Amino acid sequence: MSNLEKVIKDKRTDLNPIWIMRQAGRYLPEFREIRKKNTDFIKLCLNSNLASEITLQPLKRFNLDAAIIFSDILILPYGLGQKVEFKKNIGPILGNLDIDQISKITENDFSSRVDPVYKAINLVKNSELTQNKSTIGFVGAPWTLLVYILNKQSPKIKLEKGFFNNHSLIEQTLKIIVKFLKIHIKNQISNGAEIIQIFDSWAGLLEDKDFDFYIYNPTCSLVEFTKSLNVPVICFPRGIKDYKKYCEIVKPDAICIDYEVDPIKIKKEIDIPVQGGMNPKILLTDRDNLKKETTKYLDIFKDHPYIFNLGHGILPETDPNMMDYLVKTVKDY
Ligand code: CP3
Repeated sequence: MSNLEKVIKDKRTDLNPIWIMRQAGRYLPEFREIRKKNTDFIKLCLNSNLASEITLQPLKRFNLDAAIIFSDILILPYGLGQKVEFKKNIGPILGNLDIDQISKITENDFSSRVDPVYKAINLVKNSELTQNKSTIGFVGAPWTLLVYILNKQSPKIKLEKGFFNNHSLIEQTLKIIVKFLKIHIKNQISNGAEIIQIFDSWAGLLEDKDFDFYIYNPTCSLVEFTKSLNVPVICFPRGIKDYKKYCEIVKPDAICIDYEVDPIKIKKEIDIPVQGGMNPKILLTDRDNLKKETTKYLDIFKDHPYIFNLGHGILPETDPNMMDYLVKTVKDY
């Protein structure tokens, strides 16, 4: 069993495993080198050899405990036949959604469109570099995907005024999303993913009254499904107020916290394994401060099953030497 699994399954508190969201990404010059020559981001995700190489890049440099497959949550709408593009300095832009068309997509259509991602997982899982480490697969949560699929761009830029108006379209789309997320989870697992993380990046946009319909019900369905395949599931509902309630309802095997929450409160309230928390901006300061903040999280969660990570993805402007120092600080603790 890997250290991550020992924390999640056996509730070990002495191991201090570490991996970092977006650990394979733009802060690494070797990633930027490949990215420069591969301008179509989705195509890059669908190049099994390059995707596995990128996934392994951070493991070559740092003593991390897990590889997270280089892919994107928006591979799901791509697999359903929606156009997905990434524009520099803007982010993802999706094409129009044709609900009649995506209603006709079969499991086979979807799986063959996304197949290179599964091949990449297989390559990562079988690499020397991941022996005794975890290979993490992931999906976007139904709500966050619904936002991108219907809004067609990041809600950070703008959430369409009439977003919530067409309830029947929302209901139909959510159902399709959940169905294909299960297929995507199952395929990742059968190709070597040993842990699944569910990213709900826009959970913080909703009001409490909407949580049952948009977050709790569909996410519970995915968590139960993943558990039924005997694979642990980590949830990351970024920006929500009540992590305790979320854990009680959704029952993930571990919870990933964002940097806005008070880790001391989380430690008191939550009894399942915890992951993450530290603000990615700390890596943009200096070594002394980085060590102080890292140690703060490790101290707080000293007697609690804890996986070190950040409270959101590592920033592209991060100096890889600071990442190196972070990993060493955690390992030497
Ligand atoms: O963590 C990892 O190293 C694995 C790979 C991974 C990526 N995206 C690669 C990526 C993971 C787990 C994701 C998840 C993802 N993608 C989320 C959830 C987490 C979060 O950040 O809140 C979301 C919302 C997306 C959608 C997405 N993908 C956006 C909004 C963007 C553009 C903004 C940005 O950060 O550039 C992406 C692009 C993206 N996904 C990049 C990477 C490495 C940058 C691509 C580039 O090189 O331009």
